Amino acid sequence: MGHAEESEKVLTSGAGVPLPSDQYTKSAGKYGPLLMEDFAYLEKSAHFNRERIPERVVHAVGAGAHGTFKVTDDISHLSCAKIFGEVGKETPLFARFSTVARSKGGGDIYRDVRGFAVNFDTEDGVWSMVGNMTPIFFVRDPIRFMDFIHSQKEHPEKYWRQDSMWWDFWSHTPESVHQVLLLMSDMGAPMGWRHHNGYGSHTFSLINDKGEHVWCKFHFKTEQGRKFFTEEQWQRLEGVEPRWATKDLFQAIDDGNFPKWTMYIQTMTDEQAKNFKWNPFDLTKVWPHKDFPLQKVGVMELNRNPDNYYAEVEQSAFAPHNVVPGIGLSPDPMLQARVHSYADAHRYRLGVNYEQIPVNKPKNSEVNSPYRDGAMRVDGNYGSRINYGRTSQAYPQIDSKRHPELSYKVEGAVQRSDWGAEDDIYEQPKMFLDVLKDDEVERMIGNISGSLGACPKETRERQLGIFKKIDEKFAERIEKAMEGFEAPKLEFTPGKE
Ligand code: HEM
Repeated sequence: MGHAEESEKVLTSGAGVPLPSDQYTKSAGKYGPLLMEDFAYLEKSAHFNRERIPERVVHAVGAGAHGTFKVTDDISHLSCAKIFGEVGKETPLFARFSTVARSKGGGDIYRDVRGFAVNFDTEDGVWSMVGNMTPIFFVRDPIRFMDFIHSQKEHPEKYWRQDSMWWDFWSHTPESVHQVLLLMSDMGAPMGWRHHNGYGSHTFSLINDKGEHVWCKFHFKTEQGRKFFTEEQWQRLEGVEPRWATKDLFQAIDDGNFPKWTMYIQTMTDEQAKNFKWNPFDLTKVWPHKDFPLQKVGVMELNRNPDNYYAEVEQSAFAPHNVVPGIGLSPDPMLQARVHSYADAHRYRLGVNYEQIPVNKPKNSEVNSPYRDGAMRVDGNYGSRINYGRTSQAYPQIDSKRHPELSYKVEGAVQRSDWGAEDDIYEQPKMFLDVLKDDEVERMIGNISGSLGACPKETRERQLGIFKKIDEKFAERIEKAMEGFEAPKLEFTPGKE
């Protein structure tokens, strides 16, 4: 819409009534008190007071864009998902990238994991792939997630983020060390959203039209090449261009330089899962590529910027429970927990009818849900259609042929356990260290020591103990690099407050 066309329009209230003024309040006498009847002022002010919605409790800072996914390689023998239907098939999508820990208004280039969330608008509804730029995560039991996030956010009393809280949590959570090394490596400060990979991270399942399944991991490799900021670069840039990543993405798309990611899968049969060296459903572990090679599936391209940030990016909602026929969940406890968590967060943040907001509304499939009423119901609420199942009146039916559900055996007694505690957690971090070049390890040691060095002695020692179990020499180098560091006076001292 051009500015000329906009200027020809009449300014109205929300009810479409032409406004008498939007710049002059109504007063009794030129300098007198304001009148209660001035709806033009009251509505403008009341709406303004409600402009902010709750920010995402994590991943509050982000950017998004529209695009398409195009199949390049046939995997229809593995999955009956319509998105993978045939080579050349295109599916529209909306993607949002984010940082995790900072609150809304914060910068988007600092060292942190990046979120990589994509809603694929398929003919079988929205497939929400809510991943990260890392193939693993810090914890394997979801009940620890809230503690982890609290340790990353502001201190409850002082209200600034503190390295000592992160290392306090990590040093008490040894299974985090694999992800901590990724975060402290070059990968932890990517040069904007275009230059990092995306990973579904969890183990999912693919189900074919015979009802057979394989376990599956999703990978999205950046076609722009992986690039990163050094610690000095992002710290300097924060002062002058704290939303560098958001600008970079917007400008690239605006210039027609559309960013692309190639989607690959890794698959594992039930038999391979039984014999796998590690638990295939443990989110702190990868599946080595040499044993489970990447298989190319297609290319995702971002080619349209949002017209309005709030409408499309802020109101976008991604939810890992949204898998479509042909793609399924798995026993990974972290994934199971996320099935509940996201829709619950959306109902709080955006309202119970968040799926009717245009950016979230499926456009490639018809919605016929059993849900009714609720605040901001704007889709006609199914008109005169009866609102309960088990009826002899006209009511939508389950299409059981089109929905081969995942089925697998479960064994064991109901319990709470520190599952995975007996598994090795150091071999994969060691494998990661071993593939890094000397200069990469050197920078990682600098990043770790610069942050861990500011922590109390007990925290440092506890964390060094974990690093030692990966590689004694590596731990020694960190210890040496931290020599002379003192915890700043204002820092939180775990156990001493
Ligand atoms: C956002 C919960 C683990 C990726 C969120 C939000 C919640 C949440 C409540 C905010 C949603 C909103 O308000 O819109 C959890 C829980 C987890 C978990 C309970 C573990 C038990 C993970 C993992 C990944 C991940 C393992 C990646 C593999 C994301 C992303 C977003 C997000 C990308 C931002 C989505 C967006 O752009 O709107 N998470 N999360 N989370 N989470 Fe998680």
